[in-house]
Amino acid sequence: MKKSSFSTKVGLIMAAAGGAVGLGNIWKFPYIAGENGGGAFLLVYLLCVLLFGLPLLVMEFMIGKRSGKSTYGAFRALSGTNRWQWMSWLCMLTAMVIMGFYFVVTGWCFNYLVEALVNAFSGLDSSALTEHFSVVSTNKPRMIAFTVLPVLLTAAVLWFDVNKGIERLSKILMPLLLLMMLLMAGRVLMLDGSNLGMQFFFQFDCAKLTSHVVMEAMGQCFFSLSIGLGALITYGAYMPKGQNIPAASLQVLVLDTLVAILAGVIIFPAVFAFGVNPEQGPQLVFVVLPAVLQQMSFAWLSSVLFFGLLCIAALTSTISLMEVAVAFVQEATADTRHPLSRRQSVSLVAALVLVLIMLCIFFPAMFDVSDQLTAGFTMPLTALCMAVFVGWGLPKRGEGSVLLHTKGTRRRAGQVFLFFLRWIIPLIILLVFLNGLGVLKF
Ligand code: PHE
Repeated sequence: MKKSSFSTKVGLIMAAAGGAVGLGNIWKFPYIAGENGGGAFLLVYLLCVLLFGLPLLVMEFMIGKRSGKSTYGAFRALSGTNRWQWMSWLCMLTAMVIMGFYFVVTGWCFNYLVEALVNAFSGLDSSALTEHFSVVSTNKPRMIAFTVLPVLLTAAVLWFDVNKGIERLSKILMPLLLLMMLLMAGRVLMLDGSNLGMQFFFQFDCAKLTSHVVMEAMGQCFFSLSIGLGALITYGAYMPKGQNIPAASLQVLVLDTLVAILAGVIIFPAVFAFGVNPEQGPQLVFVVLPAVLQQMSFAWLSSVLFFGLLCIAALTSTISLMEVAVAFVQEATADTRHPLSRRQSVSLVAALVLVLIMLCIFFPAMFDVSDQLTAGFTMPLTALCMAVFVGWGLPKRGEGSVLLHTKGTRRRAGQVFLFFLRWIIPLIILLVFLNGLGVLKF
């Protein structure tokens, strides 16, 4: 099998950051924060990022780089046994289930982009925009059309192989998205009443801190950083020689967190300025963002640019999600009598994803369950298992080479990292799970 690789170190970072930054930051983060008490959620979220983010990003990248394999072969290659193979399947399952609902939301973004192009939001207030969203999200033929489009685009990028497709896209457009969001934040903060939104988002209110908030924040942290399904294992396998993994991980983490906070700084002040309910769930940003964009100078251009960039941010994430599944299928079939080529694997995965998407469109409960099941359960669980795998499961020789002798990681830092993987991360995830299940009460 031809081994793909990123051509430059910046390319890898941009692709990984592009995979991490997406609808999780701009769509999901604000609505989950809105439902879970604003400031209380933000604080727990940041704690999760600090505790889990860096070690788990480094761990996934290292598993990928050291093994040179995707999620299918990585655990076997490193451990030399088949005992951990179920983790590969957990990764694949998670990627597929996420794609089912993620593409639906990406479809909404494409729908809004097209509407921005024809200036459909001009003059609509927040209640008309709420009405509008319910039309968009219940019209099935329209949803199908707008969802199939990003599936085809994602498949097309993968069809032409990672290094050419993903790098080019991410390198130019991510900084542009950040700039656009900064401008929007600047505009929103000038609206009357925006200070209440800043208070909601940044003021920590202990009374709002419940075990549900902690569960949601932890799930969101995994989802937003793309941890716990091998997305970074897959990209790690394509890493160029000499890449400094901790530095790359830190950059991905900082960028991802910045974009999420920036999204909050746009949404919450606007929520209060326009008098909309911050707890309205998945539709929140689709109601608030068009209204914010109408307030910008050059409203038409700003809307088109913003929704265009949002679609691309979503696409760089769907690319990384689909790459997990495609690399898995290709590697899983490589030694069989019917090895699938990259293009055959892309076609097979895209077809399966389309089925899952239809389930999410025709059975909205499936949409909610998919989200809960992945961010709330399989991602933290898989991350926990991977931490145990690297921290405890690898044979001594392998463990040393994977963790401590990697270039750029000093011995001391390696030991702290190992301590996190062995103790801190499994224990905290376990406690949060037990607490969420009501077995333990804090
Ligand atoms: N992290 C992405 C986002 O925030 C979603 C994603 C999850 C992408 C898992 C790849 C893997 O939108």
